[in-house]
Amino acid sequence: MEAKAAWQITYFDELDSTSTALKRCPDAAHGTVFVARQQTGGRGRLGRQFVSPEGGLYLSVLLRPNIPLDRLLHLTPMVAVAVRRAIHDVCGLWVQIKWINDLLWNEKKLCGILTEAVGEAVIVGIGINCSTEHFPPELQDIATSLKLVLGAAPDKDELLRALLWRLQEMDAALLLKRKDWLREYADACVTLGKTVQFVRGEQREIVFAEGIDENGALRVRDSGGKQLIVNSGEVSVRNVQKKD
Ligand code: BTN
Repeated sequence: MEAKAAWQITYFDELDSTSTALKRCPDAAHGTVFVARQQTGGRGRLGRQFVSPEGGLYLSVLLRPNIPLDRLLHLTPMVAVAVRRAIHDVCGLWVQIKWINDLLWNEKKLCGILTEAVGEAVIVGIGINCSTEHFPPELQDIATSLKLVLGAAPDKDELLRALLWRLQEMDAALLLKRKDWLREYADACVTLGKTVQFVRGEQREIVFAEGIDENGALRVRDSGGKQLIVNSGEVSVRNVQKKD
């Protein structure tokens, strides 16, 4: 990956999804960024919708790593660290991380990250709830925004600048400083030290989240005491009794 990305930013008033739109540009250069004021078809992990009204910061960044994508499993956690740093730069707030791609404040989601491989490229999509004050009923208990947390919304242009600077820093650190970044990720990760429900497809299992491995995967222990590495799927702490 290039040491420094020269971002080429295009702004849109409305898109279906900044990530879907970038996918429609297969020849886009490394560092291409799409930013939208709102999305009508925002997408999240596991095929979910990402509700994206005006008031959020929605962007996707196309990266062309010069290493195989199967050696970039740590990318999503490192993006989470970059976003966390950017929010701190602008808002003075150190938010928490829920493995693998959510940023939280008091257990409510502030930001989601969707990393998708497209041929030899990777599209990193980031959605931050900035000034949203009212969420649809199904999200009210699980989502929040920087405005609701801080009492005032941050300047979205400033947040975008900070974010792109931190993503550039991450781009340069991707191969050489992975360990430090994953340590920071683990320190901020509220999933660790908890008994969680692990869901993959139809499979559900209660496990104890012990740590983050060198690829950003979750190290868990099952009820039989066996250690497992979880790369995909979802973990939930809701409705699970905590282990003493
Ligand atoms: C998740 O919460 O599972 C990930 C959400 C990622 C949302 C961002 S918003 C910008 C980009 N465009 C999308 O459609 N999704 C990502």
